Amino acid sequence: MSRIAHALAAAAGAAVLATQGQAAPPPVAATPPMGWNSWNHFAAKIDDATVRAQADAMVASGMKDAGYRYINIDDTWEGERDAAGVIHANAKFPDMKALADYVHAKGLKLGIYSSPGPKTCAGYAGSEGHEAQDARTYAAWGIDYLKYDLCSLGDRMRATGDLDKAQAIELAAYRKMDAALKATGRPIVYSLCQYGVASVWRWAPSVGGNAWRTTGDITDRYGRMMQIGLGQAGLSKYAGPGHWNDPDMLEVGNGGMNGGEYKSHMSLWAILAAPLLAGNDLSKMSPETLAILTNREVIAIDQDPLARQGDRVAAEGPLEVWARPLSGGGRAVGLFNTADFPNYIEVDYARLGLKGPVRTRDIWAAKDLGKLSRYRPLVPGHSVVLLRVG
Ligand code: GLA
Repeated sequence: MSRIAHALAAAAGAAVLATQGQAAPPPVAATPPMGWNSWNHFAAKIDDATVRAQADAMVASGMKDAGYRYINIDDTWEGERDAAGVIHANAKFPDMKALADYVHAKGLKLGIYSSPGPKTCAGYAGSEGHEAQDARTYAAWGIDYLKYDLCSLGDRMRATGDLDKAQAIELAAYRKMDAALKATGRPIVYSLCQYGVASVWRWAPSVGGNAWRTTGDITDRYGRMMQIGLGQAGLSKYAGPGHWNDPDMLEVGNGGMNGGEYKSHMSLWAILAAPLLAGNDLSKMSPETLAILTNREVIAIDQDPLARQGDRVAAEGPLEVWARPLSGGGRAVGLFNTADFPNYIEVDYARLGLKGPVRTRDIWAAKDLGKLSRYRPLVPGHSVVLLRVG
């Protein structure tokens, strides 16, 4: 079908829905989801008051204006099921519907967490055998995002002693919750978390995944963060609107890395078209943390409408060059120095598929460098130079 025919068909579809009095559901995760998640900073110390404070801070700090939307409650909210099997939040969350209303009233969205197994990773009730019921409960509360974490289903998979049987169990479980969420009619981002086993990027969209964790858990350490980020090489072709590789949540502002290291984190995640889920305490941010999380030009790379994930261009020992194609024909280029001393890193724009001298901007320095065909900055140890070229 031509593009015009597509547009006409889409318009006709919209008209039919309009005459039926229904609005077409907006696509979820058209660009990588942006928001906050409780786990990296608060882990089990998360409750209703803290979530409200994070929502307040997301607005007051300017994070919302920069594009952050989701307030995601991770593990440890779960209470008991009642006689009818309906899940209830534990005492830390006295009224989940009221909490969702509070978050929504601020123009934000609320996310929650569960497991396809009987137990979550922290040992709370999972959704196994209650998928449709839980999806209905989430929709009734006003939930907009579900992180669905393999956890105890992995035990059952391993017990088969057979990779194919294990995979069949996993696919069925993730499909079941996808169908349950869709049946609610509420747009809910479906985020798979199973640490990247069985090349999840190859099949996650087929089970409805809007994003899928490609790795084990991040920590607030430069070595682990870069191991995860650089480990994304080769995955770019699996990402696109509505389905994203997820190298795990941000650690920016949690205190375990310095400014150059956190800029490396943010730059690499933007090049990777990764979900940007802040993992720090938004109510206590230094100006430097806020500046890194809300840099508009970095966020524009992450959210670029061309929606193409970047990938490795070159690696030479501890020096890494990564690039991402952008709408308008330009490129985002990250020059990462993983050594702990300064190094020159050169990028020849011909390697990026660009011809002739093109406009070059150093994003973290907020400085236009003129028209260049190659660039060779001195990059401090454990730091990055992030460029927009073309
Ligand atoms: C797993 C996930 C983490 C977090 C915890 C919660 O480890 O990978 O992101 O959700 O479970 O228990």
